[in-house]
Amino acid sequence: MNQSKFNQIAQNYDNDERIKLAEIISLGVNTLLENQPYQSLLDYGGGTGLVTFNIEHHFNHITILDASTKMVEICDTKIQKLSKKHIEAIKGDALASNQTIVDQSYDVIILSLVLLHSGNYKELLQRLTAYLKKDGLIIIVDFDKNKNVYHPKVYNGFAQDDISSELFKLGLSNINVQTFYHGQNIFMNKDASLFIASGQFK
Ligand SMILES: C[S@@+](CC[C@H](N)C(=O)[O-])C[C@H]1O[C@@H](n2cnc3c(N)ncnc32)[C@H](O)[C@@H]1O
Repeated sequence: MNQSKFNQIAQNYDNDERIKLAEIISLGVNTLLENQPYQSLLDYGGGTGLVTFNIEHHFNHITILDASTKMVEICDTKIQKLSKKHIEAIKGDALASNQTIVDQSYDVIILSLVLLHSGNYKELLQRLTAYLKKDGLIIIVDFDKNKNVYHPKVYNGFAQDDISSELFKLGLSNINVQTFYHGQNIFMNKDASLFIASGQFK
């Protein structure tokens, strides 16, 4: 993953477009979380916490983990300012080594716009499944495959069948993947659609 890029943009990450997109993503995620008895959340690649702060009311404990030191710093500043004692922001990268990234498992793990920057989405999903509690839910929000996008370090979105079959291979059940938003200029200045995927760890 291109950590230096996110370190560079961290200070100005929360612009109007990203805040709006995070609100749209949070609406989709909130629908999945409604009326569920979940306690803990790992927002993996949570960045500055744009999504977390819109879904935090569902949880007693939240870890926002990110590989970029600067994104974590910005996020931590917000947590302190808002006195959110049930949220922590820590630095980590499940792909960087075989070391443990956190010393607990979670009811819900969310990856919002992270897989596309991961460099190896299959490996990342496999490693993160180890941090899901039994009956825990993994939620992925990312772009649908988009032939108009090209960047050497970024996936140009994902085919929903590939995401489904990866979650199935990892032993998840109740898998669901669907497009929930179409927007203009939202993926490297191209029109694109977002999918939300979920699966339960049995
Ligand atoms: C596009 S931002 C999305 C931030 C946030 N999830 C959101 O939706 O607003 C992608 C984030 O993923 C982080 N990231 C990318 N690859 C990662 C990895 N392998 N491990 C941890 N964080 C990663 C980046 O540092 C960045 O903060």
